[in-house]
Amino acid sequence: MEVVPFAEEHLDAAAELLTARHEAHRRVFPQLPEADYRAEIAALLEQGATGAFTEGAYVLGKSGPVERWGPNIWVEAAGHAASDPERLRDVWAEAAAGWVEQGLRAHYALVPATDTSLLDAWFRLGFGAQHGHGLLEIPEREWPPGVREATEDDVEELVEIGPFLSRHQTRSPVFSSVAEQTPEEVRADVLDDFTRDDGVNLVYEMEGRIVGDFFVCPIELSNAHNSLARPPGAAFLGFAVTHPDVRGSGAGLALTDASFAWARARGYETMVTDWRETNLLSSRFWPRRGFRTTFLRLHRSIL
Ligand SMILES: CC(C)(COP(=O)(O)OP(=O)(O)OC[C@H]1O[C@@H](n2cnc3c(N)ncnc32)[C@H](O)[C@@H]1OP(=O)(O)O)[C@@H](O)C(=O)NCCC(=O)NCCS
Repeated sequence: MEVVPFAEEHLDAAAELLTARHEAHRRVFPQLPEADYRAEIAALLEQGATGAFTEGAYVLGKSGPVERWGPNIWVEAAGHAASDPERLRDVWAEAAAGWVEQGLRAHYALVPATDTSLLDAWFRLGFGAQHGHGLLEIPEREWPPGVREATEDDVEELVEIGPFLSRHQTRSPVFSSVAEQTPEEVRADVLDDFTRDDGVNLVYEMEGRIVGDFFVCPIELSNAHNSLARPPGAAFLGFAVTHPDVRGSGAGLALTDASFAWARARGYETMVTDWRETNLLSSRFWPRRGFRTTFLRLHRSIL
């Protein structure tokens, strides 16, 4: 078996592998997009992705923002496929030698959660599950008591509750390197939300105080859900937090139902969200609401 650097001449063979992988994925999740698979891989090459190819497997990765992820390589949804998952390990080995030589030590890969043998190949390269992407068919729900759409009068209360999400994620066992949001950052985000007419902050009130905030918008607003991982026409549940004092008492359930009702009333049939797999609250809460994992983002840090 010869493993060589990925080049344009491999596009057709790689597209065939990706077509097989993604069409199998779409049999489980028909909401995932059909695509021009060759064009998806060609776009990665144009964006500077590098990698390796062998008959039956390829991998292509490129660097994401260093400020956010450190010196890194991302293998996006279209950046890998294998007819024999064992060969994925060979192409990654070849590509990673070059990446690590360049000092790129934080590695990420978006892998179909339904493809257990491909996942296993990645796990046996030292990768672990960092993040889940979830999707559901939006159920019919009555508008729940206690929830309403936020108005600009709520900005300061939203600024107060917003940082509880990033605070939670900086702690064990998530240990996110993304710092806790400052009130200024939250205020800028919230004010930006109010400039849109296609998204909404839904708030849950208890004794006159806002104790929960979910943001719902079109999937196009999400950078993380792109290319083969972006179900067309889906709603995106992009932010969710309840006050630590009220967790476990129904605020999150009410906000979820309101998110479903809001999205359905606007004609959406599918909703997408995502979570850190190490977030003990969200990684349990979303699947219990019916979200099924489409992709897992895997991570390996080479020290
Ligand atoms: C995820 C999150 C938004 C959920 O909100 P919440 O307010 O805890 O949600 P609820 O209280 O409605 O539901 C939590 C659990 O309590 C249960 N519950 C709700 N009301 C209850 C009650 N009166 N008695 C007993 N259990 C109850 C729910 O059924 C749910 O359990 P289940 O998932 O096993 O069914 C919240 O935990 C949170 O803010 N976490 C930190 C930030 C975060 O992770 N955000 C999401 C990022 S992706």
